[in-house]
Amino acid sequence: MTILKIYTAPDPVLKRVASPVDKVDDALRRQMDDMLETMYDDDGIGLAAPQVGISNRVLVIDLEQKDGAGLGKKGNPLYFVNPEIIWFSEECSVYNEGCLSVPEMYAEVERPAQIRVKYLDYNGKEQELEADGLLATCLQHEVDHLDGILFIDHLSALKRNIILRKLKKLTKLSEAEAVPV
Ligand code: NI
Repeated sequence: MTILKIYTAPDPVLKRVASPVDKVDDALRRQMDDMLETMYDDDGIGLAAPQVGISNRVLVIDLEQKDGAGLGKKGNPLYFVNPEIIWFSEECSVYNEGCLSVPEMYAEVERPAQIRVKYLDYNGKEQELEADGLLATCLQHEVDHLDGILFIDHLSALKRNIILRKLKKLTKLSEAEAVPV
């Protein structure tokens, strides 16, 4: 398995609408394995293909790493190909969200508290899942990535610009650190 590069805002790949997958084959499973490895390596709980520069509709999520072996270690990985949210509850919940593509930034986002999602699994089998709590939040955050939407796009323009400015400073700093002496 390969650790992939994570693209950060404002990279244009994050704004693109990703294409549906035609077939779940070994090449796609390799992509999902690499995405999972990359997500663990960066201590994330969810990752969408556009975040590693691949513009197709694939997500990986693992919420159980925290309760199990610890963050960054395999808990219960979930794979979603061509996920489609087919029902949203009227009731909403608020979660303090972060994103590997918007590193070190967090903000409260309100989303429907329960959803139902239709998708293909790791083996290409059609599945349906009803989710609430953190899984519902995470799935909506990741499906947004497939449509070129980041969690900061749910905030006011003012809050979003503050975060983007901070992020720019942060990126400049880490680039400066990377210069060999
Ligand atoms: Ni994200």
